[in-house]
Order: sequence, then C-alpha cells, then structure tokens
Amino acid sequence: MKPILSSHPRNFIDTQDWSRPALDALLAQATAFKREPRGEHLRGRTIALVFFNPSLRTRTSFEIGAFHLGGHAVVLAPGKDAWPIEFEFGAVMDGDAEEYIAEVARVLSRYVDLIAVRAFPKFVDWSIDRQDRVLRGFAMHATVPVINMESIVHPCQELAHVLALREHFGCDDLRGKKYVLTWTYHPRPLNTAVANSALTIATRYGMDVTLLCPTDDYLLDDRYMQRAHDNVLAHGGSLTISHDPQQAYRGADVVYAKSWGALPYFGRWEQEKPIRDAHRHFIVDEQKMALTNSAVFSHCLPLRRNVKATDGVMDSPACIAIAEAGNRLPVQQAVMAGLLAARAGIVNRES
Ligand code: CP
Repeated sequence: MKPILSSHPRNFIDTQDWSRPALDALLAQATAFKREPRGEHLRGRTIALVFFNPSLRTRTSFEIGAFHLGGHAVVLAPGKDAWPIEFEFGAVMDGDAEEYIAEVARVLSRYVDLIAVRAFPKFVDWSIDRQDRVLRGFAMHATVPVINMESIVHPCQELAHVLALREHFGCDDLRGKKYVLTWTYHPRPLNTAVANSALTIATRYGMDVTLLCPTDDYLLDDRYMQRAHDNVLAHGGSLTISHDPQQAYRGADVVYAKSWGALPYFGRWEQEKPIRDAHRHFIVDEQKMALTNSAVFSHCLPLRRNVKATDGVMDSPACIAIAEAGNRLPVQQAVMAGLLAARAGIVNRES
C-alpha cells in the first residue's frame, strides 16, 4: 500500500489536523477493506492498545482489524494490568503512578509499530481535561505513530460516521444535507468527545448543521465551536444553534444523538443535575423523527434505550447505528495501514 498522502500527519489524533483529501483517501481505503477485510498490510506489525477507560467496539474492532491484516494487538490497561502512569512533567512521583509517560511511550515504541490510546477526561477541571494531556503525552514521547481511540475527540468514530452517511445516501458529497446534532438526557454527565467530533466532521463535510441542546450552557468548548465556524467558511454549509427540538428536527436529513455534560458545571455536577433532569424530553422518539425529511438516525453507541432514544427509533429502518459501529473496523484498518505505509515511505526516503 502506498502512503495515503506524503504530507499527512504522523499521528491520527484529530481529523482537523488532516486535509480533506487525506481523510477521503482513508475513507476510500476503508471501503476497499469492507470489500476485502483480509490482507497483509500489517503483516508482522504490532499495535499497543492502551485503555484508560472501558470499551466494547473500539477494543474489538482494533484487535480484529489488526488480526485480519496480519498484525497483532497487545491490550494494556494502565492502573489495572499495567503500571499507573504519571503525565505531569516535574511531578514528585510519591503517589499512585509508578512510571512517567516518557519511559512508557519510549519503551512501547521499542516493541510496537503503533500505539493507540483511549483516555477520557477526569471530569473535575475542564481547563485541564481540554489539554488532552494523555494523548499529547504519548504523541510527544512515542517514536511510532499514535492513534486516538477517544479522548476529547473521537476521530475513528467520525470516519465511521461519515462512511455510514455516504453509504446511506449513496453518494460521497454530503453538502446540502440538514444535519442535527442533538443533546440527549443521560443520568450522568458524559464526555463531550463525540459531540466535538460530530460538530467537527459534519461541518468539515459541508453539511447544514444544527447543534440542538437544552441551553447555552450545553454549547461545546470554544475550540470546537470556533472550528465549526471556520469549517463552514472553508467548506460551505452552515451552523445553527437551537434549543427547540421541534424547530431543529423539522426537515432534517440526519439526526445524530449524544449526551454530554455542560462545561460551565464541570466538577460541580450536582448543580447541573436539575437542568439535565428537566430536559429528559430531548429523547429521540418517533414523534420528533416524524418531523424530519425521513431522516437517518445514528449514535456512536453504547446507548441507553428509552433514555436517549426509544426502542421504536433504534429498531426502525432509519437507524444506522449498527452500520456505523460496523464501519469502525474498516476505517481503523485504513488508519493503521495508512500510518504504517506513510511511515515506511518516510523512513525509506530518509535512509
Ligand atoms: N463508540 C465507541 O467508541 O464504543 P466503545 O466505547 O464500546 O468502544
């Protein structure tokens, strides 16, 4: 396999770091892997999958995806089956952490060809979580490519989502589609990663995006709001903020649901709870979907049925959440193979 593009980044941490042609090349390769999931692209190659948080889809699809391409995955859970890691430079390590990220990333780089990391926010101080220290720490110290398996964005989910939409609509060009990213109720405040990612990729692909959320407190971090505005300027489409489900759903082509915690209440979640509890009606149900332009519905999963979306919506033909989850496998194969091919190209050019 040839490098996707000689100019693409060494790591796959945030799709915004990648050009549209490079993302489209990954999606094209993912489509090829859907037709033929087995190959030799990772023959003799290895990947460390480092999980600080649980997973069903990400872990399974990375492991199987690597295996089908002749590679091998090693799964590590720091603090459980691997030593707890310190990420703060200069820290006096007299707490729980047994080793510093520099040693972890450098040692793993001696063993494996790729490092993939899942590290959710700690949900105490957003000013710290928004720095994405764990992913950035691995990227800084590793000498092999690093893949984000979800931190404060979820780029692999983004690619699977775009591929599912392209497959549903039967075309690569998603411009002109009315895309609703809706907040939904969940009993606990959740990560903003998938919402940040959905806003990023929907505007990147030129759709007319509505961010539907209960109040302005649920707007996403300025970095992602500004990015969405920048994407609209660069790629067309539009960005609308709405707090009115009836208005937002009307005429929609795509409804993408996710729950997330309100950033102004970060670390003070008991104070957010009454607002959250007052918006259980943001559930995706048949009545709201009936307002749409026969919209397709999706969610990254896992999803609490009859809390975020009704059984009727989840079991309807409009729901492509399973197809999207299925796409995680080929898009991650494309990411792994693409990063390795690019690295091989770079190494060859340098030697
Ligand atoms: N959507 C997603 O990343 O699923 P998991 O948390 O199960 O990996």
